[in-house]
Amino acid sequence: MELYVDSANITHIRHAASLGIISGVTTNPSLLAKEDPSVDVKERILEIHALVGGHLSVEVIATDTKGMLREAHDILSWFPDAVIKIPMIPAGLSAVNELYKEEIPTNVTLVFSPTQAIAAANAGAAYVSVFMGRLDDIAMDSNAVLDEICEIWDVQGYESEIISASIRHPIHITQSAKAGADIATVPYNVLIQSLNHPLTDSGLQKFLDDYAKMQAAK
Ligand code: G3P
Repeated sequence: MELYVDSANITHIRHAASLGIISGVTTNPSLLAKEDPSVDVKERILEIHALVGGHLSVEVIATDTKGMLREAHDILSWFPDAVIKIPMIPAGLSAVNELYKEEIPTNVTLVFSPTQAIAAANAGAAYVSVFMGRLDDIAMDSNAVLDEICEIWDVQGYESEIISASIRHPIHITQSAKAGADIATVPYNVLIQSLNHPLTDSGLQKFLDDYAKMQAAK
């Protein structure tokens, strides 16, 4: 399972990229607004693209098919390998299908159920983003939903890649990998949290202390 960072924060993305463990970035309007509501979106997206270079999903704002297609082509004029993120609404599915015919990759976002995922795959989505944390927020078992979607993918052989999104803690990453998601897009703080373990820290401290003892004994 690949890891992406779900962020629009340049410092966080730069650090995550320097670790060598991420192969893409996903953004959305909320993440962009969180950094700086006055941000020039095109400028910020191009800055992120220059930092990571791999997958970069950029979300459209329009909610009608024509508007989404217009925005998609605008984003593609910024950089041609953009993945166009489209919300899981009927107008979005039509846009995904049009873009599929034009061989433009899309990431269908805000997917919460197997039937939504199946529709996105049939429309021709290159990626389907299943939101885990937001399902948990409404007392639904996100792990079971993701498991079911991944099982359907195995049975049906759908080609769209499954991204687990709305990741809130490291257990979501483990669950995504076990379910068979292709990618987990992880917020920076959770990504860093997932690297840490108290026994790693105490173990390293002991190695360093013991080495210092040997040096002192010389
Ligand atoms: O990738 C989707 C993500 O940005 C949503 O996360 O925590 O707002 O549900 P969250």
